[in-house]
Amino acid sequence: MRFDGKTVLVTGGALGIGRAVCEIVAERGGAVSIVDVDQSAGEELCSSIEQAGGKAAFTRVDVSNFEDMQAAAERTHTKFGSIDSLVVSAGIQRYGTAVSTDDNQWNEVLNVNLKGAWNAAKATIPFIKSAGGGTIVNVSSVQALASQQNVLAYTVSKHGLLGLTRSIAMDFAKENIRANAVCPGTVDTPMLKWAASLDPNPQSVYDACNAMHPLGRIAQPREIAEVVAFLAHESSSFVTGAIWTVDGGLLTQIGGVPQTS
Ligand SMILES: NC(=O)c1ccc[n+]([C@@H]2O[C@H](COP(=O)([O-])OP(=O)(O)OC[C@H]3O[C@@H](n4cnc5c(N)ncnc54)[C@H](O)[C@@H]3O)[C@@H](O)[C@H]2O)c1
Repeated sequence: MRFDGKTVLVTGGALGIGRAVCEIVAERGGAVSIVDVDQSAGEELCSSIEQAGGKAAFTRVDVSNFEDMQAAAERTHTKFGSIDSLVVSAGIQRYGTAVSTDDNQWNEVLNVNLKGAWNAAKATIPFIKSAGGGTIVNVSSVQALASQQNVLAYTVSKHGLLGLTRSIAMDFAKENIRANAVCPGTVDTPMLKWAASLDPNPQSVYDACNAMHPLGRIAQPREIAEVVAFLAHESSSFVTGAIWTVDGGLLTQIGGVPQTS
């Protein structure tokens, strides 16, 4: 699965799942445009890809700002000559219920996780169209299909991302643009490290997350990124509007006591 001659713009590309996507695309011959708020991690990844002989650019962008996102897309097109794929991995997690979530938290999460994905699509689709078509992959979550407790804004944003994905898939299919979403279970990234750090015993959070997946462990970022890369690549040419769980069986299991006789 080579990406020679292709340019992939990855929001949230500096760390976690997005970073693993950038590494895969670069290793396989593609140019990556890393778009992220984290300047030091983004620049460090960009240099390490270039030192390994790959093609990369970093632009510091808060995806919730459309003008900045549009400028990043233009910069990407100027530097590499095309945008063939968009991967949306920028996201944040916050905690609260329908009662405890305040306006600031709602706006923060929805603006990054959902409006940020729309901004990225709006900014890149004209370039993807002019490349003759391409792909969009939105990194959603198992929390787009079910919910834990105390994650109102996050769950709403991730459910919304499925609607965004399906809507783009319908609106741009005739222009050979495919849009799909990936719904990961728990992944060993800085986001999980941050979430675990809120608990007095962070290791207990990792233990619980490992135990809740039927495979008995959480995912490494690359295990999600491989599926994202497939959906971004022409190998998945008849897949559009699809929602792929990559969750170690998490959403397959039914709780309760098994019938033993
Ligand atoms: N880690 C998990 O267990 C898990 C599970 C399911 C879904 N996800 C989703 O996968 C995506 C990636 O998560 P991750 O675990 O790699 O997270 P991460 O925190 O490790 O990485 C997210 C990246 O997004 C960037 N980012 C955050 N806000 C941004 C903004 N406003 N503009 C631009 N960049 C921004 C961060 O700087 C970071 O580089 C997220 O959308 C997350 O919701 C993660």
